[in-house]
Amino acid sequence: MSSDIKIKDQKMIFLDEMMDQVIILDKFKNVFFANKSAVARFGNDIIGKNISLILRDANLLESIDLAIQDKSSQVLDVEIKLPIFQFYNVNIIPDSLNESEDEHSVIIFLKDLTEIYKTQQFKSDFVANVSHELRTPLQSIKLGLETINDGHASNDFEMQKKFLPIMMQQTERMENLINDLLSLSKIELQEHIRPTTELDLKEIITHVIKLNSELVKKKKIKIENNITDDTYKISGDRNRLIEIFTNLIDNACKYSDSDTVIKISLVKKMDTILFSIKDQGVGIPKKYLSRITERFFRVDPARSKDAGGTGLGLAIVKHIVNQHRATMDIISTEGKGTEFTIEFPKV
Ligand SMILES: Nc1ncnc2c1ncn2[C@@H]1O[C@H](COP(=O)(O)OP(=O)(O)OP(=O)(O)O)[C@@H](O)[C@H]1O
Ligand SMILES: [Mg+2]
Repeated sequence: MSSDIKIKDQKMIFLDEMMDQVIILDKFKNVFFANKSAVARFGNDIIGKNISLILRDANLLESIDLAIQDKSSQVLDVEIKLPIFQFYNVNIIPDSLNESEDEHSVIIFLKDLTEIYKTQQFKSDFVANVSHELRTPLQSIKLGLETINDGHASNDFEMQKKFLPIMMQQTERMENLINDLLSLSKIELQEHIRPTTELDLKEIITHVIKLNSELVKKKKIKIENNITDDTYKISGDRNRLIEIFTNLIDNACKYSDSDTVIKISLVKKMDTILFSIKDQGVGIPKKYLSRITERFFRVDPARSKDAGGTGLGLAIVKHIVNQHRATMDIISTEGKGTEFTIEFPKV
């Protein structure tokens, strides 16, 4: 008996240190042991709770019954959707130390594969999105070429000339998409490396405003540069910062009507510098605010596409902001406008 207890204690200590979640059930399928990892995941009050209250999955409960009845191990994948998505590979083993008739129980080993599952899902979604985004302009170019080659425009020079700008526009769209994808994957790889060059944000922003002056003029939008004369030093990567401000100015223009104003400012705070760009555009519905930096996410795909957007701009911005150890906030009112703020740490 005493050696039994010893083995039991040793077993508990060993299980306690495991990275996987381990739960041992009594004959009523209530938890009588949970290792540290299981307590951290399912809460301090897990002991004594029925397993059906912890993992609500019919297949899992069935497999536990089977493991108890047949004294046989069961392996299965369990997908839990609520309150948050979780994916486990579960191994249910009859507890050999509780062999007496009325103490049947099982040990449940839960391997958390949520991250891997999500990554795989994300990858396949990403490939599907990219293929779709590339196929659309490609189809339009193909159609144009076919019409010029042997369709109704084959002998009509004037008609051919009408197709060319469309095909050029679609080619440019594909080129933009590929450039954005490359930019995104590069920045993702380097996100953990904080840039070290000392730079002045005012100089960079003024430069980007100048670069975009044509676009702004075309849309009859006014940029109000409210940055006061001072230096705003941060540690940064100049080209990447140019990418941030170009994307934000581009968005402010794209999603605003003509004769509106875009206000840009920099404010020095105790340890940070706060950049703000505020437009008087269409705004972003509240329910979409949290999704706005996802790849390919667009509130109104038609409007964005017409304006030449791929939906990658803000995803790129988010990663560059992270790389600079900065934080970004978005405040928006539908029909009134949007303000993007980025808080950079000072050097
Ligand atoms: N200033 C803004 N005002 C209103 N909506 C905005 C603004 N900025 C972004 N959005 C919304 O967020 C979406 C995502 O923006 P994002 O910059 O990532 O993509 P995009 O502008 O569509 O394409 P691109 O890759 O060319 O930037 C936009 O499609 C638009 O719906
Ligand atoms: Mg954009």
